[in-house]
Amino acid sequence: MSIMDDDREVGKLEKQWWKESVVYQIYPRSFLDSNDDGVGDLGGIIEKLDYIHDLGADVIWLCPIYDSPNADNGYDIRDYRTIMKEFGTMKDFDKLLSEAHRKNLKIVMDLVVNHTSDEHEYFQKSRQNPANRYRDYYIWKDGKNGSEPNNWGSAFGGSAWKYDNAVKQYYLHLFAEKQPDLNWENPEVRRSVYKMMAWWLEKGVDGFRMDVINAISKDQRFLDGDAALGQKYGSWGKYVNNGPRVHEFLREMNREVLSKYDIMTVGETSGITTDDALKYAGFDSHELNMVFQFEHVDLGSDENGKWNDRPISLHDLKEVVTRWQTKLNGKAWNSLFWGNHDQPRAVSRYGDDGKYREKSAKLLATLLFTLQGTPFVYQGEEIGMTNVPFDDISQFRDIETKNAYRDLIRKYPENIEKVMRLIRARSRDNARTPMQWDDARNAGFSQGDPWIPVNPNYREINVKNNICDPDSVYHYYQAMIHLRKKYPALIYGTYSPFLEDHKQIFCYQRTLENQSLLILLNFSENTAEIRLPEEIAAEGGKLLISNCRFPKNEFLAGTMVFQPYDGNVYLMN
Ligand code: GLC
Ligand code: CA
Repeated sequence: MSIMDDDREVGKLEKQWWKESVVYQIYPRSFLDSNDDGVGDLGGIIEKLDYIHDLGADVIWLCPIYDSPNADNGYDIRDYRTIMKEFGTMKDFDKLLSEAHRKNLKIVMDLVVNHTSDEHEYFQKSRQNPANRYRDYYIWKDGKNGSEPNNWGSAFGGSAWKYDNAVKQYYLHLFAEKQPDLNWENPEVRRSVYKMMAWWLEKGVDGFRMDVINAISKDQRFLDGDAALGQKYGSWGKYVNNGPRVHEFLREMNREVLSKYDIMTVGETSGITTDDALKYAGFDSHELNMVFQFEHVDLGSDENGKWNDRPISLHDLKEVVTRWQTKLNGKAWNSLFWGNHDQPRAVSRYGDDGKYREKSAKLLATLLFTLQGTPFVYQGEEIGMTNVPFDDISQFRDIETKNAYRDLIRKYPENIEKVMRLIRARSRDNARTPMQWDDARNAGFSQGDPWIPVNPNYREINVKNNICDPDSVYHYYQAMIHLRKKYPALIYGTYSPFLEDHKQIFCYQRTLENQSLLILLNFSENTAEIRLPEEIAAEGGKLLISNCRFPKNEFLAGTMVFQPYDGNVYLMN
């Protein structure tokens, strides 16, 4: 059986290229610097297209490359139709796109339209005079009793409102001050966004990853959010995430733009449930192809939000994965990811970045590539890059991290070690240090001074070493991607969990018509004993791939012993 057996359907699912693709995410600033100014650029990406292609990826998601003053590294866009000078020119972009297409790689752009930069022409005009049609492009409100219009806090700390002396009103910014939120209630704003999207699609880009897209429709009452005891700021979550008109807006976007092209769309949607996902990415919903959900990355959040260093509980992780796999099956499509530019390194968060670094990185890859959904690999994950051991706040660059440090130091003035521990565990800069290409100066990223320090472990962990070593994390990613393309059950098959109460083992079966694979993963640093249910053991199965150098348990047996972080995939008889 191959994916091409019948033309449109497999099992009960419609075939689509974006379901069968593996996406490689690039953070251009940190990927490869081709002119040695310390900042990665489009030239660097062009140089490495073969590397990405050889890994087996089909699609590249580019984090924002548009003109930006970089308050939030490009997520604050000044001009949506111009390339950031540091990254190159539109000519470079056109070259990147055509070279990528020539190598059968698609390019998906980051679409950041919940907000613009405050330096965007629209915002500049918006603050000029009230009669101006741009005034209503953003969200301006009068203060209340001499302070902000409501208690909403910004995602990056402080108030979500900023008073503007010229306008004599406050504008809303869910993120940094330099990221004013667009007013999606205004049809002109929406038309302008759709026009810009069509402009890129006409150029030939293959889709969009939509930044915080479930926040575009705000509850127009602008009520105070819930605030934790003793906290000044309340959460906008329930008035903004999945707001009243968001589905109407996305269906309109789909009708006006998306439906006219054969593209991939994925929405970044924090704080959604599986029911929400069915609305955004349902097969009949005419909105998006898929969404990023955040339940697994949010595990362990506490009174400091994401700033904690609690280990992930396997029980909770299994529960989240199983719920998403089963609730969306046959109705909507999942996205699969461990890391991205906003998360710590996958192996540090979900695996073991010490003794079992390579083994656990491979274990995570096994899970990533054997679930239903489209897998996303974040640059460096495929070589097992880890969190950075920065010990001083001056080494960090990220605005969210710096603001969190300020707030945490205020909260724990006596305990700077604790603050640094939390920052180190969760800072987005963990994922943003330069890609480690080889053991030369600056990990081969740049001959100049990198904009952010290189992780000191680059002499050991780098692409060159990975490529030389047939047992490396890189080669395992390659093999897993290959396996996924060979067995359609891994893409389209249904998911059934087993051993749900096992404290160390993650076990599930993927089945499509008469093809069935069993995945067995030991998510612990101890030996694990496995007793398979009768019906599974009776079927029997043969090992297809293992992350062990000398694989044991070549055939499925009723009782098996797995060493720390062992992961095996079996083809059932
Ligand atoms: C998204 C991006 C993140 C950015 C934020 C504001 O969460 O992934 O990097 O800071 O939106 O644009
Ligand atoms: Ca450069």
